[in-house]
Amino acid sequence: MAVQTLDRGATDAAAAGAAPAPGASLAHIPGDNGWPILGHTLPLLADPKGFVERRAKMYGPVYRSRAFGFVSIALLGPEANELVLLDSRKVFSSRLGWGMILERLFPRGLMLLDFDEHRLHRRALSVAFKSGPMQSYLAELNAGIAKGVARWPRGRAFKFYPAVKQLTLDLAATAFLGAEIGPEFEAVKRAFIAMVAASIAVVRAPLPGTQMGRGVRGRALIVDYFNRQIPLRRERGGEDLFSQLCRATWDDGSLLSNADIADHMSFLMMAAHDTLTSSLTSFVYRLAANPDWQEKVRGEQRGLGLAVDEPLPFVRLDDLPLTEMAFKEAMRLAPPVPSLPRRAVRDVEFMGFRIPAGTDVNINPLYTHHMPQLWPEPERYDPTRFAVEAARERHKFAFVPFGGGAHMCLGLNFAYMQAKCFTWHFLNRFRVSIADGYRPDWRMWPIPFPRDGLEVTLDPA
Ligand code: HEM
Repeated sequence: MAVQTLDRGATDAAAAGAAPAPGASLAHIPGDNGWPILGHTLPLLADPKGFVERRAKMYGPVYRSRAFGFVSIALLGPEANELVLLDSRKVFSSRLGWGMILERLFPRGLMLLDFDEHRLHRRALSVAFKSGPMQSYLAELNAGIAKGVARWPRGRAFKFYPAVKQLTLDLAATAFLGAEIGPEFEAVKRAFIAMVAASIAVVRAPLPGTQMGRGVRGRALIVDYFNRQIPLRRERGGEDLFSQLCRATWDDGSLLSNADIADHMSFLMMAAHDTLTSSLTSFVYRLAANPDWQEKVRGEQRGLGLAVDEPLPFVRLDDLPLTEMAFKEAMRLAPPVPSLPRRAVRDVEFMGFRIPAGTDVNINPLYTHHMPQLWPEPERYDPTRFAVEAARERHKFAFVPFGGGAHMCLGLNFAYMQAKCFTWHFLNRFRVSIADGYRPDWRMWPIPFPRDGLEVTLDPA
């Protein structure tokens, strides 16, 4: 791979997070800055996938563009993903990349920490994702999903996306915060929704009446809730994720501070919520549009030999390879995090281009997942691409819905577990279909979702 760091150490400006003046030191990178003021913001928003594909055709896999007032360099393809995600020379800051979007509302979440500090926090949190706690979360997911899907209407068209969004939020309440959260949940839920909406708001100042204003108020409420709950959770225990973090320790055995727990909890809830909603929505759409695969997946679930209303046992999660392949293929076509931002804190070279310290860069799972060299007939839904043999032959960074390297999604196993648990309860009860010729329009960025909510019909399976 044509990669080399120009090891002059991080400059003061880069370490402080300053980006180079728009376009100035990047004139040697192919590309342009687009229209005055707006740059490429509008075409990027209108068609994020087409925009990147057009520019890759025009300029190649390393190009410069300007959107939302910032010049950045796109690094496309599996080699670029490997360079940025593995980051063996500690060149790419996740904090400075995600900071502009997430810092105000989700400060000091794992993606907002870098290098050694990040490693310490990640190690402290990972206790909450070990198999013991995961089994307790699965028990909550089983109960919550069975109850939730039982309420969905049958025999008429209904909008799947808002329904599964609500379900995911309710599941977060029990698996993340504990079943006994009680009446405060409605306020916590509203606050959380306001924070997530604000993180991608165009107006970044927390002015009254703006999304950011509501988001900042939401954060204050949630932090207050966590602060009040931490001593109670430590006293009475509990198997939910919040209670796990209340007991989590640093390497020296001391407990995490209240502020750390509050920051990590809000970040975890945010990281889980829209990604699960998006991936389950595109999964159900693909199953509805590909009834042959829906039958295969249902057949695999029934082959477990469990009664229809039994919970899915933790020990059977690995017995669902077709379900996993079908879910992966849905995430290939619509990765819930379509692009990942970083900022270089040292000079680095990639494919012969020098990328100076302070440059904002982006890698792009959405683009990589549609490269015809890696995925023949890329628009076709074909879960057999994830059969063990086929997967072994592909570049390790060709499929990156969960990122990779130090910041690889900490909730990856949780996500697969929830997807399998959802599929178990959903396909056991329902046959899902869409109207003939229906092709919902997806907004692919910042997180893919069907603009019309995805109309499906559920009939008894
Ligand atoms: C289908 C569902 C999900 C997808 C596609 C997804 C995707 C991702 C991606 C791409 C990253 C890396 C971002 C980067 O490197 O810039 C990430 C990080 C993260 N995700 Fe997920 N995620 C999912 C579900 C979850 C769930 C359920 C949780 C928690 C229970 C979670 C917690 C996290 C955390 C804590 C990080 C930060 C890790 C770090 O910086 O060390 N995610 N996720």
